[in-house]
Amino acid sequence: MRALSERRIVDAAFLADPYPTYRALRDAGPLHWSDEFFGGAWLLTRHADVEAVLRDPRFSAQRTGGWINDVEAQRGEFARFQRLFSRALLFLDAPEHTRVRHLLQAAFRPDALAQLRPRIEHITDSLLDAIDPTAPFDAMACLARVLPVRVISTLLLGTDAAAGPDMLRWSDDLAAFIGAPQPSRALAQRAQRSVLAMTAFFARQLDAAPDTAAPSLLGLLRQAREQGALKDDAELLAQCAMLLFAGHETTRNLLGNGLLALLTERDAWQTLHHDPQHLPGAVRELLRYDSPVQYSGRRVTTTLILHGQQLRRGDLVLPLIGSANRDPARHAQPDHLDIARPDPGALSFGSGMHACLGAALTRMEAEIVLRRLLARWPDLRLAVAPQQLQWCGNPAYRGLQRLPLACR
Ligand code: HEM
Repeated sequence: MRALSERRIVDAAFLADPYPTYRALRDAGPLHWSDEFFGGAWLLTRHADVEAVLRDPRFSAQRTGGWINDVEAQRGEFARFQRLFSRALLFLDAPEHTRVRHLLQAAFRPDALAQLRPRIEHITDSLLDAIDPTAPFDAMACLARVLPVRVISTLLLGTDAAAGPDMLRWSDDLAAFIGAPQPSRALAQRAQRSVLAMTAFFARQLDAAPDTAAPSLLGLLRQAREQGALKDDAELLAQCAMLLFAGHETTRNLLGNGLLALLTERDAWQTLHHDPQHLPGAVRELLRYDSPVQYSGRRVTTTLILHGQQLRRGDLVLPLIGSANRDPARHAQPDHLDIARPDPGALSFGSGMHACLGAALTRMEAEIVLRRLLARWPDLRLAVAPQQLQWCGNPAYRGLQRLPLACR
């Protein structure tokens, strides 16, 4: 018999601050069944279990079928979307996963990222130059929402010329669908339209003459396709769509959530102003404290017993990263932001074979932005009370709608 969690989890209070709910769930036990997610899923609350499941091949990353079945799969309405997106690295198991990850990894090596650094610095400076410091401004609109999409576009295409409202909309539609606990048919339709538009865009880029002067991940993938290391164009395009979404949605929320935390905990901001060498550790801690990715998903491949419960083949399991990162069994005073915390070994980037490929890139982006903000506007502060801030309403990808700031 399944242990049913009777309480409703995702409500306005949870979206504004999920951590009290996670604490209550953790205190009540390590594993809960909830009908609220995708028609029913197991929720894992503790660091040790979240890490173990992310590393255990009995829990498969192939989970896209479930999302869409719940919506309208019988009619095959979402078949194209499902077929395509299920080939993205994030949803593959070995050996397919090993093959595709190996190809993508080259673009995230330290030497490749070092080449991107001056571009990121330049984009950041130009965005900050465009802000009028004499009036409050929305840091999400002016910075967090626009920088990551330009960076991921530069990585993919060698230029950020095409990084505009279309890319933002495509990525947002996909995030709204993937992050919804019960995706509606309308959300699935929008996500499908956007994924198809995204892949059509990348297909046009693929057909265009390669620009050898600007190295790009697309060029690398094109080469892999020509050499047969990628099976077909659809496999290649699925990786592009995933990277656009993964590179934008998450980094945006690291910048927003991170700035909010630092400006709320003013001492941390002051410490960083006087001692920017703490920045790498601070970014790690910000990722733990308010993680942009709050949970992932896995499907059980074989019946097994976990914490006395029987998990059946096909069951969906949600490792709650946001809860694991506040688990007192792993982190001392987990609800306290401590930028000097020794490497907390948090699970913000996952763990095991699917651990985030973009971790070093996103950390570099955050460090560049924070370093520049601290130097330019040391008196930066929130322009509204924290209770007035509105969150996006996406329980998986936690982020702010707006972050009004003032420079003095
Ligand atoms: C704050 C920023 C980010 C966070 C919190 C984050 C978080 C994560 C997490 C938790 C996973 C593992 C998911 C799982 O095991 O199911 C993951 C995987 C992944 N991330 Fe990120 N990510 C971030 C930024 C990025 C960026 C900037 C990129 C690319 C430019 C990226 C690309 C990927 C890819 C390709 C995977 C799949 C890896 C695989 O399946 O082998 N991420 N990320």
